[in-house]
Amino acid sequence: MDGAASTVRNSAKILFIAVLVLATNTSAAELIASFTEDERTLILSHGPWPVKTYPDPSNRVSGNPVAIAFGEALFVSSELSIDRKRSCATCHLPEKAHTDGKPISVGRQLGKRNTMPLFNLRLNTWYGWDGKSDSLWAHSITPLLDPLELGMTSQGLQRRISETRALANSYRETFGHNVTAPDAETAMVNIAKALAAYQETIRSGKSEFDKFREALLERDPVGIAAYSASAQRGAKLFVGRARCDLCHFGPNFTSGEFDNINLPRPSQRDRVDDGRYGGILVLQRSRYNLLSSFNDDTELTTAGFTRHLKLTESSRGKFRIPSLRNVSKTAPYMHDGSMATLDQVVRHYSEIPENRFPQTDEKLLRPLRLTEEEISDLVMFLKTL
Ligand code: HEC
Ligand code: HEC
Repeated sequence: MDGAASTVRNSAKILFIAVLVLATNTSAAELIASFTEDERTLILSHGPWPVKTYPDPSNRVSGNPVAIAFGEALFVSSELSIDRKRSCATCHLPEKAHTDGKPISVGRQLGKRNTMPLFNLRLNTWYGWDGKSDSLWAHSITPLLDPLELGMTSQGLQRRISETRALANSYRETFGHNVTAPDAETAMVNIAKALAAYQETIRSGKSEFDKFREALLERDPVGIAAYSASAQRGAKLFVGRARCDLCHFGPNFTSGEFDNINLPRPSQRDRVDDGRYGGILVLQRSRYNLLSSFNDDTELTTAGFTRHLKLTESSRGKFRIPSLRNVSKTAPYMHDGSMATLDQVVRHYSEIPENRFPQTDEKLLRPLRLTEEEISDLVMFLKTL
């Protein structure tokens, strides 16, 4: 009796497995076939992740563990602010992907801007919404000196570090001399280089999208099926009809350059932010750009982009194309923090009025007229990045 029962149970089990395999195989074929070879190639171009990076030749302490630890201590130290009440971490909160979660940061240098997240920064060519800096260390000088951010001077900074024993010791360990040894400006640039060494280590890990991409690469149906059907449709739209990857391309979902997506204009009272145009002017006049003697790469091979940069009228009103990695954690969105949700962002691309395009030659944007389902699919996709 027992034997017969177990045979029945076993055959039932075998039948169950057979049905499962059959079901998986059918859906496997369907899943893989649901992407055309073109779509598959385009989706694969957003990886692999992480991208291998190398120390920054313009910063001699880039990648140096002692400098990284010093930079981290500086990043959270209120000794870096004039009133000892602020630090970098006041606006770049680690638990908010290093943003402050506010539409506009309390600092208002160059118009009102949204605080940028800090990760994968080694992949940037330019820093700031307007790209006013060409290196991470140079960009780290701006909040130190800005009266609306930390409000220091190079002399003040040198004095503070020398008076704070732990920081003074770390400075000496990192640079091999006392902070008071060089002139104040050189000491400040060194401090910014330690800050940069730390910030370079902030990276985003493998996302749900990266796992899906790997499954697509290996044509692994189980891995593909683990990614929601809605996000899959969103991925198709992103590289297809919605043409998002014309600007948000590659593993970091950005070209790293600048564009204008015709955000609603600010009210009359607000100063119009000229974006990249002003950024180029500031960069070209900066004492700390990569063409300066503060660049540790004495051959200046790192300065190529800066050397060839031209100020053109068409750069007016353009802002840096943001990376979309971790984008679900960096709300509110856009340089002016004007959009609270990803749904609002996608609706903006869906409804951009055609007559609002300036004399741009690119014409990369046109109203997408997405359906409600397409909007939620694109949002779902963005949330997996
Ligand atoms: C008062 C708020 C505030 C403080 C304090 C602050 N930041 Fe920022 N940070 C911002 C804002 C706003 C932006 C965008 C600036 C822009 O484009 O004009 C930004 C941008 C950046 C960027 C550019 C990121 C990118 O992707 O280009 C870096 C790097 C940065 N901050 C580092 C720092 C460091 C280092 C400190 C401390 C020395 C610091 N910040 C202090 C508000 C702040
Ligand atoms: C013509 C180039 C271009 C195209 C095409 C484009 N974007 Fe953007 N995107 C930008 C620029 C530039 C910004 C920043 C604009 C600003 O702040 O003024 C941006 C901002 C964003 C942001 C806000 C990110 C943040 O951190 O603030 C999201 C999300 C986004 N785009 C998603 C998309 C999606 C989805 C599509 C396709 C429907 C798309 N983009 C198509 C250039 C583009």
